[in-house]
This record gives sequence, C-alpha cells and structure tokens, in this order.
Amino acid sequence: MNELTLIQPDDWHIHLRDGDALKTTVPHVAQHFARAIVMPNLTPPVTTVAGAEAYRQRILEQVPSGVNFEPLMVLYLTDHTDPAEIHLAAESTFVHAVKLYPAGATTNSASGLTDIANAYSVLEVMQEVGLPLLIHGEVTDSDIDVFDREATFIERTLRPLVEKFPKLRVVFEHITTREATEFVTAAPDHIAATITPQHLIYNRSDLLVGGIKPHRYCLPVLKRETHRLALVEAATSGNPKFFLGTDSAPHAKHTKESSCGCAGCYTAPHAMALYAQVFEAQGALDQLEAFASLNGPKFYNLKPNAHQIRLTKADQLIDQSFDFLGDQKLDPLMLGETLSWHAELIS
Ligand code: DOR
Ligand code: ZN
Repeated sequence: MNELTLIQPDDWHIHLRDGDALKTTVPHVAQHFARAIVMPNLTPPVTTVAGAEAYRQRILEQVPSGVNFEPLMVLYLTDHTDPAEIHLAAESTFVHAVKLYPAGATTNSASGLTDIANAYSVLEVMQEVGLPLLIHGEVTDSDIDVFDREATFIERTLRPLVEKFPKLRVVFEHITTREATEFVTAAPDHIAATITPQHLIYNRSDLLVGGIKPHRYCLPVLKRETHRLALVEAATSGNPKFFLGTDSAPHAKHTKESSCGCAGCYTAPHAMALYAQVFEAQGALDQLEAFASLNGPKFYNLKPNAHQIRLTKADQLIDQSFDFLGDQKLDPLMLGETLSWHAELIS
C-alpha cells in the first residue's frame, strides 16, 4: 500500500508547555491533529477550571490562521483538589479529564498526589459525573527498580483503585509493559490506554547500547523487547481500548544532552509517519484509522473528525532542529533519520 486516507486523527496525550514554547509546539500539533488532550504539568500546574480556560486561550492564540485545532483541557490532581472543582469541570465545555501524577514520578510532578487516598472524595465525584482520570502509572518508591515501576503500580494502586471505583473512567497513559496491555485488555470497557510512538518503535537496548541516546529517553522508560512486542500487538489489534497518545514532550536540546538529561521525546511534527511505519511493519495499516482517529473519540464521547489526512509512502528525512524559546533548539525524535511515510491534511 502506497497511499492511505484516514479520518483526521487526534492526539490524546501531548505536552505543549506555555509562553513562548507554544509558538513552536502548537503549529506542530495542529499540522495533523484536529484535537489534543493537553497535559497540565506546567509550573505551576493547571489545577482549576479558570486556569484551564486561560491556558486554552493562550494555546488558541498560537494556532496558525486557517487551521482548525481544538485543545482539550485537563486538570492536574493534587492532594488538595476540591471536589467542587470537578463539578465545575464537568459543567465546562473544555475540560475533558483530570490527570493523576504520583508526586515525583516525572517532569513537573512535585505537586502530584502523595497518597491516592487523598483523592478519594474527588474520585467519587469524577465517577459520578463521568469525568475520566488520566493516570501516569508508576510507583515512585526508591526501592522499586525503574524498569518495574509500571508493573508494580498496577498491582499496588491501579487494580485496587478500579475495584474501589468500579465506574470510574480511566486512561492508563503511555503504557510500556505487557502487564499493562493485559490489565487494560481484561478490564471493563471504560478502562483504556494510550500508546506512544517511541514505545512502539524502541526497546531499552535502543536507548542504551552503543552510547546513551538522550532523545530516546522518556518516562516511563523504554522496556525490554517482549514489552515492545506486546504494545505493538495491542495498538494494531483493533481493540477500541487502545488509542493514539504521543506524549510529545519538548525539552530544549541542551537540557536533554546533559549530565542530568530531561525525560521526553518530541514527536509532534512526525507522529503520524512514525505510527504508520509501525503499523506497516506489523501488516496492520488497515487498523491505523481505528487507533488514530476512532477509538479515542469513542472513549471521550466525542465525534470523529470531519476532515481527512493522507499518508503517502515517501521518504522523509527528519533534518530540522526547531527554534525553541528564543535562541534555544528543540530536536525531534529521530533527527537525521529517514521515515518512509509522509502525512498531509487533505480536506
Ligand atoms: O517523558 C516524559 N516527559 N514523561 C512524562 O511523564 C512527562 C513528560 C514531560 O512533561 O516532559
Ligand atoms: Zn505525558
């Protein structure tokens, strides 16, 4: 197959940052995606509906003219989130979810939950009003190996959580393990997961063998090959519980190529080509539309997009490091490599 036309996709997990960073990140996401779930891990985090509304406006100001792009806003769950804020979120037209970061798990997670029990009254209301909980699923205990943090989170936190709140809608974000694919597959329909391009393409050897590749470093960290294979199987299976979420996360080049490098892969400009490559290798291009354009809207009770995107089999050299935050640079994942697909909006 050399050409593929899909309903325009959405990105169900992205980091756009704020301020001048939006000048780079917003045009990139809006190039191919009609909507995106925008993560709230700013400094300070987006914890209120009023804060989300103001952030949404700052994003919309950077959408290029003539382009349609709808940011879907998310509140950041803290130990002190007021259940009344959840009612406000549910009544709003633009807040679509609440994000749970265990405190200390990743970038800007210092205000995250220190104990899941601190959020029980909030989760009760979310369950009642049907607002999805998006979960960064890693324990932060220092005695748990970084490669085991997701699998441990499932047993210690996630399984008890979905038992305690049996109707709570949950997205297990950027899953990285076979255990996560099995958990989500066996769970009821209101439990879903996003999968990033980097976790479909790379395993941990790709991160570490022959020299550390800082631009492949993200959290949760890449796992061994058996897990990558389970993720590819889940993404390409047609199972509506699995959908596209890039976790595209910009960090300036010098902060990644550092003695204490930041976590995050910047994939927004090339995400559709990256996913197409994975689906083609699996002989599953016919499942790409479900993963990229149908399963996410279905979970979020939104309509699929009206426009279409065309994927063409054509070499695309990733040759551009982007301007970022004034005189800084932002390197996309796979800079200097050639992709075999090219994406463009057609209508
Ligand atoms: O690699 C990551 N980068 N994982 C996260 O969970 C956060 C993200 C970021 O904000 O940079
Ligand atoms: Zn993320």
